[in-house]
Amino acid sequence: MFKVFGRQPKAAVERLRSGSTRAEVADAGTAAVIDASFTVQPGEIFVIMGLSGSGKSTVIRMLNGLLPPTAGEVLVQGQSVTNASAKALRGIRRRSISMVFQHFALLPHLTVLDNAAYALEIQGVGREERRTRAREILEKVGLGDRADAMPDELSGGMRQRVGLARALTAGSDILLMDEAFSALDPLIRREMQEQLVELQRELGRTIVFITHDLNEAMFLGDRIAVMRDGRIVQNGTPEEILTDPANDYVAQFVQDVDRARVLTAGSVMAPPVATTPVSAGVRGALRVMRDQQVGAVSVIENRRFVGTVTDRAVIRAVKDGRTDLRSIVRRSQPVVHRDDPLTDVVERSVESPVPVPVVDDSGRLVGAIPRVTLLAALGNVPTVTRENPVIEAPATVPAAELTQTLEEITDSPVTTPHVVSATEGGV
Ligand SMILES: Nc1ncnc2c1ncn2[C@@H]1O[C@H](COP(=O)(O)OP(=O)(O)O)[C@@H](O)[C@H]1O
Ligand SMILES: [Mg+2]
Repeated sequence: MFKVFGRQPKAAVERLRSGSTRAEVADAGTAAVIDASFTVQPGEIFVIMGLSGSGKSTVIRMLNGLLPPTAGEVLVQGQSVTNASAKALRGIRRRSISMVFQHFALLPHLTVLDNAAYALEIQGVGREERRTRAREILEKVGLGDRADAMPDELSGGMRQRVGLARALTAGSDILLMDEAFSALDPLIRREMQEQLVELQRELGRTIVFITHDLNEAMFLGDRIAVMRDGRIVQNGTPEEILTDPANDYVAQFVQDVDRARVLTAGSVMAPPVATTPVSAGVRGALRVMRDQQVGAVSVIENRRFVGTVTDRAVIRAVKDGRTDLRSIVRRSQPVVHRDDPLTDVVERSVESPVPVPVVDDSGRLVGAIPRVTLLAALGNVPTVTRENPVIEAPATVPAAELTQTLEEITDSPVTTPHVVSATEGGV
């Protein structure tokens, strides 16, 4: 769709369509939105991101019929907003698509519960039902025990949470939020972003969220449309935009993104390395350590991650005549879920003797994140060479001793591995 403000909007659109630039049609009007097409899927948070003046608010006003497009059409759940009668439009706005208040201001003379129920009251929901629903909302935002408090007894962040929950619960299927968090101070803003994602997951609303802040876009968006001078220059998932920017403009924009908060463990992980099944015993673990020249391996059982064992522990076990891996597995090894953000990986990587294991919902080992991969993903370490590897667990026991120990518990002599240089000194 197109939106041109000014004296000759239709003529401007024709010229834009045949290749004129925004500046070239300035004599005919301000081209606020140029050829912007996109589809929002039910249940997603679709973010429109761009600098001030790029056309975001104009787009969102066309979505709910507040502004007619100069050319093009808006469909909401298959129904045309653009060609709707005034009466039909009111219906669409009430049931299907609505703008969430910019400020989640609470009414100072009503209790928290009555505030939470207020939007439902306006919709004509009966007292009992709206109080029940309002209590549920308050539980969801962790304020179930503050229902009878007055707004001025809550912290600023709590008040915002009540307001957000109220808007999401009372609103229609599709919610339009135009710079809804932009006026908040950074801490509360972050809290609200997290709350929005959580509530959205629970309530399954479709949200079109506008922001000029890329970090906010990346954190909230299932998909992001990046706007520049009226055009959508890229439409993709946060990961796509981060790892495959459509042009230099987007690339420059994403430079400052807090990657740790956007990228997930699953998106950067490598295949699992240095693993051994429990059933292989200390001997199996020793072999892996010797062949891969690492000082610790991940132990798995039925594809599930169990823990790690170190070379020292294995040697000690052999000396004590124990062969079962289970007794020496270090079960405190930190792992991450594939959907966890890299911030969590960073934390765990610090104390991890092995590349941080990545597991799925059922605890299966699906990958590992070596420190070097983590640093590369965060954009900190561009070059790691074969000569200069970063290894989590350099061998702490000389290769010869590993081989000797292996021979002790194996009937036949063991062949020496091809690789000679050990990672003397480690990281
Ligand atoms: N009602 C209007 N009349 C004239 N120009 C407008 C109007 N609304 C927006 N514009 C212009 O359209 C462009 C896009 O504005 P807007 O959609 O508000 O951008 P954003 O929300 O991304 O900051 C800007 O150049 C703005 O000045
Ligand atoms: Mg705006």
